Amino acid sequence: MSHASDLMTLALDVATRAYAPYSRYQVGCALLTSTGGLFSGCNVENASYGLTICAERNAIFHAVAEEGPEMRIASLAVVALEQEFPPCGACRQVISEFALPDTEIWFLKRGKLVSKTVAELLPSTFQL
Ligand code: THU
Repeated sequence: MSHASDLMTLALDVATRAYAPYSRYQVGCALLTSTGGLFSGCNVENASYGLTICAERNAIFHAVAEEGPEMRIASLAVVALEQEFPPCGACRQVISEFALPDTEIWFLKRGKLVSKTVAELLPSTFQL
């Protein structure tokens, strides 16, 4: 199997359940944890726009709630219906908190699955 395309399929499915009445961007994220857990999340918008949560953070927070603070991301896929983009800056920072050096972050670029590491997506990450 290609686990990236399986994650992308799951991310596409959860994107259909996004709550995005303001931007109409329906985004889905699916991730595999280092212990084999599978989690997903969609974006959930709010009339007070800044309260919106992205699909990636929704999925990651769900994974932490289930697996606890040791949760680490082995692989993550993000996709939007009828749009293409890599994770936003805020989500890159949150991904970096739970990523390993070889964590694969998958997204679509001109219709093709591409993978980047967190070091590629967010050089000079903020760390305490
Ligand atoms: N969004 C995500 O869910 N993930 C991203 O990485 C970028 C943006 C959502 C937030 C908002 O609901 C909509 O897409 C438009 O910004």
